[in-house]
Amino acid sequence: MSLSLKKHHSFAGRPGPVVILVADGVGVAPAGPSNAVTEANTPTLDKLAKQTLYTELAAHGTAVGLPSDDDMGNSEVGHNAIGAGRIFAQGAKLVNQAIASGEVYDTEVWQQAIQHGKANTLHLLGLHSDGNVHSHTQHLYALMQKAADQGVTECCIHILLDGRDVAARSALTYIEQTESLISKINAQYAANFRIASGGGRMEITMDRYEADWDMVRRGYHCHTHGVGVGFESAAQAVEAMYEASSKGDQYLPAFVIEKNGDPVGRMNDGDAVILFNFRGDRAIEISLAYERDDFAKFDRNEHRAHPSLFYAGMLQYDGDEMVPQQYLVNPPQIDRTMGEFLCAEKITSFAISETQKYGHVTFFWNGNRSGYLDKSLETYIEIPSDNIEFNQAPAMKAYEITEKTVELIESGKFRFGRLNLANGDMVGHTGDLAAAIKAMEVVDECVAKIIRAIERQGGVLLYTADHGNADIMYTEKDGVRHPKTSHTLSPVPFAIVDPLYAGEYQLSPPTDAGLTHIAATTINLLGFEAPEDYQPSLLRFS
Ligand code: 3PG
Ligand code: CO
Repeated sequence: MSLSLKKHHSFAGRPGPVVILVADGVGVAPAGPSNAVTEANTPTLDKLAKQTLYTELAAHGTAVGLPSDDDMGNSEVGHNAIGAGRIFAQGAKLVNQAIASGEVYDTEVWQQAIQHGKANTLHLLGLHSDGNVHSHTQHLYALMQKAADQGVTECCIHILLDGRDVAARSALTYIEQTESLISKINAQYAANFRIASGGGRMEITMDRYEADWDMVRRGYHCHTHGVGVGFESAAQAVEAMYEASSKGDQYLPAFVIEKNGDPVGRMNDGDAVILFNFRGDRAIEISLAYERDDFAKFDRNEHRAHPSLFYAGMLQYDGDEMVPQQYLVNPPQIDRTMGEFLCAEKITSFAISETQKYGHVTFFWNGNRSGYLDKSLETYIEIPSDNIEFNQAPAMKAYEITEKTVELIESGKFRFGRLNLANGDMVGHTGDLAAAIKAMEVVDECVAKIIRAIERQGGVLLYTADHGNADIMYTEKDGVRHPKTSHTLSPVPFAIVDPLYAGEYQLSPPTDAGLTHIAATTINLLGFEAPEDYQPSLLRFS
C-alpha cells in the first residue's frame, strides 16, 4: 500500500513545526492529596486543561490493544498507539491467545526447549507478577504445567520481583502462588521444580536502553552461576530483605536459593532457558547476554564458564536486530506508522528524550523498529539518564531535554518533532509523593519553555501523555497509606497549543477517543489528509 499522503483539503499547516510532547505517566485523575499532578503548582498545565482545544484520551485497556479494560496502560503500548494511529493486539494479548489455543506448544522452539529440559534442566526466567506490562504469572504457570505434562522433571524458576507494575511489596503473594503450583507439580510427577534465584527488577537483569549494563551483569551471574546472597527459600529471602531495609520489591538485591550451601539451580551446558517476559525494552540486554557468542558487555566467565544453552524469549523483542533468535510467539506486526508516512513525504523530524525513555520515542514510536526510518530526514537525540532512584533527583534530565528541544524547534530545520519528559512516570514509580510533586513542577516549567519556542516559530504543540502514574501516588486502607508505584487506568490530557489558530478547525473527539487518534490529528496539522485506515482525527475542519 502506498505511503503517500494527500494534501489536506482545507488546511495547509503552520509555518513552524508540529511537536508532540509526551509527559510520561501524567494522567488525569480526581484532584486530592494522593494526586501529585493536582497537588503540584502547575500554572501552565492548568491553563492547558482549561482551554477550548483540550480533551482527554483513553490510554489503557482495549483502546491500546491490551486484553481488557482492567489493564493499565504502559509506555510500550502507549507510544506504539501514538506512532501507529491504529490499535494493534499487543504482546499481552497475543501471548494469551497463543497459550489458550495451544499454538505456543506446537512451535519448534517450545518442542526443542522441552527436549533440552527433559535431557537436562528447563529454566524459566522473568518478571514475577500479574502486572501484565512485561509479563504475567498466568503465562509462567501455563508453561510450567505444560512442561511438567510433557515430561520435564527438572525445572528452575528465576524470579524478578516486581513492585513497580503491582503493589510495592507484593512479592510474597506471587511467591506463595508459584510455590503452591510447584508443590502440586512435584507431587503429581515426582518432579523437581523449584525457585532457584531472584532479585528486584530495578536491581538485576531488567535494564533497558543500555542505561546500566551492570544490572544485567548482576542478574546474569545470579541466575546462571548462582551468585547472590544465599537463602533456603524465596519467601525467606524476601522476608529477610524486608527486615533489613524499607526498600520495595523492585529494589531488592540478588538472592540465590541454596541447599546445604549450594545453589539449587545453576545453569549448565545443554539446559534450556525461556525468558517469559513479552515486552521488549527490558528483555533485550539479558537476551543478548544469553544468546550471543560474541557477547562482550561484561565477562560472563567471571565465576564459571558461560554454559552452552538453548535460549528463547516469549516474543521476539527486536525484529530488526533479531533478538532473540528463538521465540515462542510472533510479536505484533506494526506497519505503516506515522513516521513512515512522514518520511515518504520528506518531512524532517526530531525525536528526543533521556536514556530511560529514548527507545520509547524512537523504537516504540516506530512500531518496534530499531534505528532510523530515514536518517537523511530524522534526528534522534538521547540525553544520558543518571543511574539512580529518581526520587533523589526528580528533575531528571527534563531541563536538558527542554533546552535541546527549544534549540531544535528554533533551528527551523524540522517540520515535526516529539519528545518525552520521563519525570511523572519514573518518579511516580518510586512511590514518593513529595518527589512526584516536584517532578510535576519541573514538567510544568519545561512545557512553558517549549510553548514559548512554539509561539516564536508559529508551530503547534500537542501536549499529552502515554498513560497515568503520578496522578495516583498512594491508596489508603483503614487509615494507612500504601504507596502506589504502578501506572493508573486514568485517561490522559490532550491539549493543542496553536498560537496562529484562527478557528480553522474544532476539536471534535469521538466518544472512544484514545491515543491512537493522535496520529491522524498530527498528520492533519501538518497539512495532510490522514491515511484512510487510521483511527480518525480528533479535529473537524470547517
Ligand atoms: C517499567 O518498565 O519501568 C514499568 O514496568 C513500566 O513503565 P513504562 O511503561 O512507563 O516504561
Ligand atoms: Co512507567
